[in-house]
Amino acid sequence: MGAEVVIEGLTKSFGKQTIWRDVTLTLPPGEVSAMLGPSGTGKSVFLKSMIGLLKPDRGRCVINGVDIVTCSEHKLYEIRKLFGVLFQDGALFGSMNLYDNVAFPLREHTKKSETEIRRIVLEKLDMTGLNGADKKLPGEISGGMRKRAGLARALVLDPEIILVDEPDSGLDPVRTTYISQLFLDVNAQIDATFLIVTHNINLARTVPDNLGMLFRKELVMFGPREVLLTSEEPVVKQFLNGKMQGPIGMSEEKDSAQMAAEQAMFDAGHHAGGVEDITGVPPQMQTTPGVQTRMGAVRRKDRVMEIMHRLPPAAQESIIESLSPEEQRHYGVRPHRGQPQQVGARPQGDGVPNQHHGQLPADQVARIPGGGQPPRPGTHRMPPPRDNGPGGR
Ligand SMILES: Nc1ncnc2c1ncn2[C@@H]1O[C@H](COP(=O)(O)OP(=O)(O)OP(=O)(O)O)[C@@H](O)[C@H]1O
Ligand SMILES: [Mg+2]
Repeated sequence: MGAEVVIEGLTKSFGKQTIWRDVTLTLPPGEVSAMLGPSGTGKSVFLKSMIGLLKPDRGRCVINGVDIVTCSEHKLYEIRKLFGVLFQDGALFGSMNLYDNVAFPLREHTKKSETEIRRIVLEKLDMTGLNGADKKLPGEISGGMRKRAGLARALVLDPEIILVDEPDSGLDPVRTTYISQLFLDVNAQIDATFLIVTHNINLARTVPDNLGMLFRKELVMFGPREVLLTSEEPVVKQFLNGKMQGPIGMSEEKDSAQMAAEQAMFDAGHHAGGVEDITGVPPQMQTTPGVQTRMGAVRRKDRVMEIMHRLPPAAQESIIESLSPEEQRHYGVRPHRGQPQQVGARPQGDGVPNQHHGQLPADQVARIPGGGQPPRPGTHRMPPPRDNGPGGR
């Protein structure tokens, strides 16, 4: 099973510019998580901080008991071997064919024989649908194939954690769905923990088990996919619908004067963009028939049912509706529109601080920051839970 990544209070700035602060979340082992956020909110900086390419100012990022923010260079080098990273452009060496590109980490970091390397490279090329393309140069293949080659290379050292930066950049919608399918299939095959950073709404809606969003230098939310997809937060709704109407502006956020001016424009009938309001939780993509069961998804089901009582009512409802009748019986739940479920609720005073329906723990739902607004119900910070939180701790 992939490694768990526990991030607490992580903060990163460049000089006086804070990129994000106090990011707290847990990537559950072997599950697929995605992080959304408008351009420039620091998603790539977040990934680079997770592998120690950038050093956060404070906070912790703990993997297998090692805090990579404070550990020695030697420890960091060891921890980095757990990661496979698929960079935005595939980051392939242009002068090497795909075989040599994929073989590169094995030749650099292991003492394996060329025979063994050949076996691994061909296996990973096969896994990513690149059979027979090993002699091609990156410049001779399509963007989609380059991404898959980048993924093949990210897989050769048997990573426990796979980070993916903007898998859809430069790809058409169909190829984006194919690569998403590949992520789920690979996740099933190797049970690694995935974090995909993306602005792609389709991918965010249908691929990950867990979903988060960075905005205004903070983590707006992170939790089971149903939480973000049923959220009424204006910034989340705006982003998921790709509209101009809302707090996200051209270069990141809007001030209240601009919000008001734009609202008047939309009220007068100006099109805010987007096709239609998309709401609700579509079914999650599954692995390709014939590929083994995705154990991350199986574990997630138990994990989410455990923390169900702490999720907002709309998310609870959607989770229950996604279960088969047998599963609903197994977990003792049934769809009950409009009523939060009591199932799994723990009695007060059992060590779960301040949790009640509709209110997520602080490590999963932060707040919409800034603006001088008082925190709204359900979005203010609380002490982190001590038990197994939604992040799977
Ligand atoms: N090495 C660096 N030195 C200084 N500033 C940096 C550095 N790397 C990134 N930044 C700044 O950090 C901010 C966040 O950048 P980042 O690339 O992480 O955004 P992003 O969310 O990935 O955006 P996009 O969706 O466009 O890829 C930007 O303002 C960028 O200029
Ligand atoms: Mg980026």
